[in-house]
Amino acid sequence: MKVVSLVGARPQFVKEAIVGEKLDEFGIEEILVHSGQHYDFNMSEVFFKVLNLKSPKYNLGVGSGTHGEQTGKTLIEFEKVLIKEKPDLVILYGDTNTTLAGAIAAAKLKISVAHVEAGLRQEPKDMPEEVNRVLTDRISKYKFCPSKIAVQNLEHEGITDGVYITGDVMYDIFLRFQKSVNGEKVLKKYALKPKNYVLATLHRDFNTDNEKRLSAILRAFSRISEKMPIITPLHPRTVKRIHEFGLENVISKDVKVIEPIGYDEMVALTTHAHTVVTDSGGLQKECYFAGVPGVVMMIDTSWIELVESKWNVLVDADEEKNVSGVFNHPKPLEGMDNIYGDGKAAKKIAKIIKGKKI
Ligand code: UD1
Repeated sequence: MKVVSLVGARPQFVKEAIVGEKLDEFGIEEILVHSGQHYDFNMSEVFFKVLNLKSPKYNLGVGSGTHGEQTGKTLIEFEKVLIKEKPDLVILYGDTNTTLAGAIAAAKLKISVAHVEAGLRQEPKDMPEEVNRVLTDRISKYKFCPSKIAVQNLEHEGITDGVYITGDVMYDIFLRFQKSVNGEKVLKKYALKPKNYVLATLHRDFNTDNEKRLSAILRAFSRISEKMPIITPLHPRTVKRIHEFGLENVISKDVKVIEPIGYDEMVALTTHAHTVVTDSGGLQKECYFAGVPGVVMMIDTSWIELVESKWNVLVDADEEKNVSGVFNHPKPLEGMDNIYGDGKAAKKIAKIIKGKKI
């Protein structure tokens, strides 16, 4: 059996690291393709190094652009790879433009698709990631769901065939890195003390591309910095928008802004944080994995079980709610372990693809 896996953005490199490894263990031939959606060293290459990923056989060189351009270019280039490689299955991850393009290219060539992280849904329905998820799930033969709610979401849409609850592959890899990374060294590098700093990330277009929302968030970061150190590895898009909107002065110099960091450092900074403030789909879950409260700058989330269990609070782009989310976070409910499986999700996925029972 031959599979082609398509990745292109940071969270996909993380998921591929563990799924690719398990495919190898089950003797499944895998060809890795990089769309090139993320191309900066800190957004791509550093992940391949730290996660010990195999080198992609193809890099489609898609780069930045409008959503249509990015999706369209990936579709055109990925189709060429599929025609050449003739795989039995295409594996896709998450909800990016790369994911959707891969799904369409495979479907048009009648190649089966496996979607890792299927069934996630959230408002607003017109956000690009939501559109990408819904359409990819429709096309996929295998829908690998990280949680029970994801299975229910698919049921509500009448999708029940090929739905598997595997747990979350991001949990698998987080556990592994948590064991191996030297947290003390990372904290020392950034001059931070355990449980005495806030880790923040910010990159969703609905937050970064709207001046009012972006400045409210930056004001919140600045207010947090008056009480506790805050460190934020900023996505290039966010940095670009801060300059475009002239918001450099809104963000206090006490907010420690750094370049995007590798997965190993991210795991360490998450594990030892007092609170995590984020609009990242991955990080809002990773802080729960680490037992750290999360403040999520969205109106809704595809990881709603974490809000219901009070691990995360949704604050949208509201300055007051953001600050109070950090310093007056509700107490998380107890007994909410293992929402995302047992740390063996990737192995289950490889087994199912191999045609074995899980
Ligand atoms: C994408 C995904 C999102 C995922 C995120 C993880 C979509 C629609 N969104 O968002 O689901 O959570 O990746 O990071 O696919 N840029 C650089 N260097 C890079 C990459 C991006 O400078 O290496 C800048 C470019 O200006 C680009 C902008 O960031 O236009 C946005 O990048 P893009 O790939 O469109 O989406 P992300 O925000 O990264």
